[in-house]
Amino acid sequence: MIYARITPVYSSKMPVYLDHNATSPMHPEVVEAMMPFLQHPPANPSSLHSNGRMARSAVETARDQVAGLLHCPAADVVFTSGGTEANNLLLKGYVDRHDPRPVVSSEIEHPSVLQPLQQLQAEGFDVRLLKSDPSGQIDLPAAKALLAVANPQLLSIIYANNETGVIQPVEAIATMVDRDACLLHSDATQAVGKLDIDLSQLDLDAISFSAHKLRGPQGVGALVVKRKPRNLLISGGDQENRRRGGTENVVGIVGLGKAAELAGLEMDQRRHYLAQLRDVFEARLASIPGSVVFGQQSPRLPNTTYFALPYYHGETLLMELDRAGFALSSGSACHSMVTEPSHVLTAMAIDDSLALNAIRVSFGMSNSLQDVEALFTKLQDLVNKLPAVMRQAAG
Ligand SMILES: Cc1ncc(COP(=O)(O)O)c(C=O)c1O
Repeated sequence: MIYARITPVYSSKMPVYLDHNATSPMHPEVVEAMMPFLQHPPANPSSLHSNGRMARSAVETARDQVAGLLHCPAADVVFTSGGTEANNLLLKGYVDRHDPRPVVSSEIEHPSVLQPLQQLQAEGFDVRLLKSDPSGQIDLPAAKALLAVANPQLLSIIYANNETGVIQPVEAIATMVDRDACLLHSDATQAVGKLDIDLSQLDLDAISFSAHKLRGPQGVGALVVKRKPRNLLISGGDQENRRRGGTENVVGIVGLGKAAELAGLEMDQRRHYLAQLRDVFEARLASIPGSVVFGQQSPRLPNTTYFALPYYHGETLLMELDRAGFALSSGSACHSMVTEPSHVLTAMAIDDSLALNAIRVSFGMSNSLQDVEALFTKLQDLVNKLPAVMRQAAG
């Protein structure tokens, strides 16, 4: 059988890309740093010859760059294939199968935390989920009540939600558990590179993150953790100090290291620029009768607006915007084929009819105020096309 090879054609008229929480384009300096490792003779960092030693040195430089961004010892950085693997390694590798105490997380985690938790539950673990309040933050009084009696062995809380961008009160929750007896992890995949995360100041045992959310390449990330896992997720090699087997993705790791270094250097500039785009967009959006921004009153990532327009189903709006040259996401990109309301909005007690209209804009450094204005004009245009009776009802 002959298969036709389908090659994507990138035209000069690329859409305005507004989906940086799904993945972000690589920083030119990241591409530049990676090029020699794509072009030059292959080398395995475990090989003892000089090529191998060069590859090893590149991996260790990247480890130092990550440690520099996060203010942690380089030895704590375990390179993985991304945020999903880091979350799986933490949850499946660090639980104590002989400890009957529960594993606690929240209802507003990414599927790469929720699904491993379901697997643990199927194995017989006691898994409990903290609730969200309507503002998109974990409900602290409810968390306190649950944690006072649960005495968890492991607690995993998302640092900033990928859909709403809402930053979670991780430090407040840390004070609710016996820190000597509970491993505290945070999925910081959306936060690293967008927020200043100083692990020397935070009471956390482990975080996960991913290069492609901070202008690095796809397919590489890290779990930052001091302890050794009880069980390996991937075994069959002594790499990563016996914490993750398999030949290292050298070129990806080099890209991650460079992306981390640049994120540290450009953090303030990026944060201010992105917040400006988001704030202008949200000010414009407020003029559309009936528009809603989820989690708007909570502290949020600087680049994210999760909103709904009345009468426009999120996927319909997404397709209309796609046709008009704007790339956005209806809810989490990782499950955008599913038409159920987002589990995050359900946890926030948002009515299904409104939750189904949700659409996410996540800005990046390649966006401009013109992009914001063009998107708003298109949204206004779409709303104006609604029958007058609908527009009046929304207002
Ligand atoms: C909060 C969060 N955690 C984990 C992941 C998974 O990361 P990766 O795509 O690197 O596997 C994502 C990706 O969207 C995310 O947003």
